Amino acid sequence: MSETHLPGGFVNAVVRVGDTVRRTPGPRAAYVHELLRLFERAGWAGAPRFLGLDEHGREVLSFVDGHVAWEEAQPDGVASDESLARVAELVREFHDLTAGTPPAGDEEVVCHNDLSPRNTVYRGEELRPVAFIDWDIAGPGRRIHDVAHVCWQYAGLGPAVEDPADAARRVRLICDAYGRRGRDEVVETILWWQDRCWRGIAADAAAGMAYAVRLREGGAVAHVRACHDWVAERRPMLERALR
Ligand SMILES: Nc1ncnc2c1ncn2[C@@H]1O[C@H](COP(=O)(O)OP(=O)(O)O)[C@@H](O)[C@H]1O
Ligand SMILES: [Mg+2]
Repeated sequence: MSETHLPGGFVNAVVRVGDTVRRTPGPRAAYVHELLRLFERAGWAGAPRFLGLDEHGREVLSFVDGHVAWEEAQPDGVASDESLARVAELVREFHDLTAGTPPAGDEEVVCHNDLSPRNTVYRGEELRPVAFIDWDIAGPGRRIHDVAHVCWQYAGLGPAVEDPADAARRVRLICDAYGRRGRDEVVETILWWQDRCWRGIAADAAAGMAYAVRLREGGAVAHVRACHDWVAERRPMLERALR
């Protein structure tokens, strides 16, 4: 069967073969496969199914049909309030599903750790989120870690924001839809992610890792630093909006 390259990835070469996707397994593939099996057993449709390894040692995943929002410009439905709320509900679903299971280890839940529109499949005329892909760096963590990452990525917190008050409202909407009461730490955790992210790319690039060199050359380090500074400057306003 023929292979079609799937665009939108930054790390892996991903191809589609029929109703499947083939990807190079990440360094923690065994963990990720166990997690995807857990989702399958629970009947949770918010992640691809793990179908084994192919003859080239690539992981075989079910192809999740829909629209992956990896490009800069996106149709309105992707960033609508309804889609934003649904993203938060989907996160709540897999957090609740993984709480107290072996993959969560000693932590609260399993976190995806890279939730963003470019790792989300949207479907239907209204483009509602139905699944998250790219679970390579999932691991045991705290609920707030994913919630804060969602706020950063789906509300697009950074210099490109035109209306900071509306961005703050969207952060609140995400927290409300997730059903989070203790949200004092959200902005602090967004800053923690942003700091960790640019430093991580810079360190990996300095160590010669190809994906990181590519990202750095595309301006990712400078961009994420600018997002961090943008949030840091508006921290009081954002925290007020969450109270
Ligand atoms: N299970 C899947 N179903 C549908 N499309 C997928 C699936 N996995 C990956 N893709 C497509 O391949 C692209 C890259 O995949 P991804 O897993 O995000 O790679 P990377 O680790 O490089 O970011 C995505 O943008 C998406 O378009
Ligand atoms: Mg990806």
